[in-house]
Amino acid sequence: MTGKLDRGPARADILQSLSGLLLVLFIWGHMFFESSILLGKDAMYRVTRMFEGEPLFGKPYPLLVSGVAAIIFVLIAVHAVLALRKFPGSHRQYREFNAHMGAMRHPDTTLWYVQVLTGFALFFLASAHLLVVFLQPDNIGPYASSDRIWSGRFWILYALLLVCVHLHAGIGIYRLAMKWGPIPAAGSKVARRRLKLAMWGIIAFFLCLGTASLATYMYIGRDHAPHAGERYLPAHQQALPGNT
Ligand code: HEM
Repeated sequence: MTGKLDRGPARADILQSLSGLLLVLFIWGHMFFESSILLGKDAMYRVTRMFEGEPLFGKPYPLLVSGVAAIIFVLIAVHAVLALRKFPGSHRQYREFNAHMGAMRHPDTTLWYVQVLTGFALFFLASAHLLVVFLQPDNIGPYASSDRIWSGRFWILYALLLVCVHLHAGIGIYRLAMKWGPIPAAGSKVARRRLKLAMWGIIAFFLCLGTASLATYMYIGRDHAPHAGERYLPAHQQALPGNT
């Protein structure tokens, strides 16, 4: 035995799981902050200002938002490159995989395939969204976001992104739990069933939350369309001289 153990694939696997976990935590957090619009325009305004660092620095620094967008993009790129190793690499491999999946009819293999498809779509959809956030970090807020969504027709991008990202994240976290979770072999069938139930529950929850907030942005954007481009001022600032 002279061969040295190649730890590369194991390391790549751990890094893929870790980057996936961080991205899932990010998108779940993102959904709660972004759906602050459900609590009203002032609530979303405050969340926006918080991420621009205003409570900490006394004035907003939108560049902070661009920084986070850049970090998330790098994480997505790392995660995608590592995932590409596992995609069918040629037409023949793809045909064989399809035949295999059809013959086995194994639900988890089908879930994996859904992840491949949503992951592929996400690379483009998420990049488009991140680019806008990165280039126009100061253009986020109750009216700025609603105008983009309604007058700028970004609801089309967000509706697709919403479905793809929550299927991908939900299935991804289920697969992480099955792969790394301390599941005893004897109870694996029960664990699989419970985890799958949790997975569908989580996916349904975020799809409902996202749809409700997207619809709210659309309503606000439709009402604000004649003044698209005008920024939102919270009640306490409207009273200030120069802001009338
Ligand atoms: C720093 C990074 C990010 C920031 C600051 C951010 C911010 C926002 C904001 C403010 C909105 C409301 C609409 C708008 O203003 O255009 C939004 C919507 C959305 N974002 Fe992000 N986002 C980020 C990254 C991501 C990523 C990486 C994903 C998914 C891969 C994502 C998925 C979505 C989805 C699906 C919506 C629509 C949500 C809904 O239906 O209510 N975002 N984002």
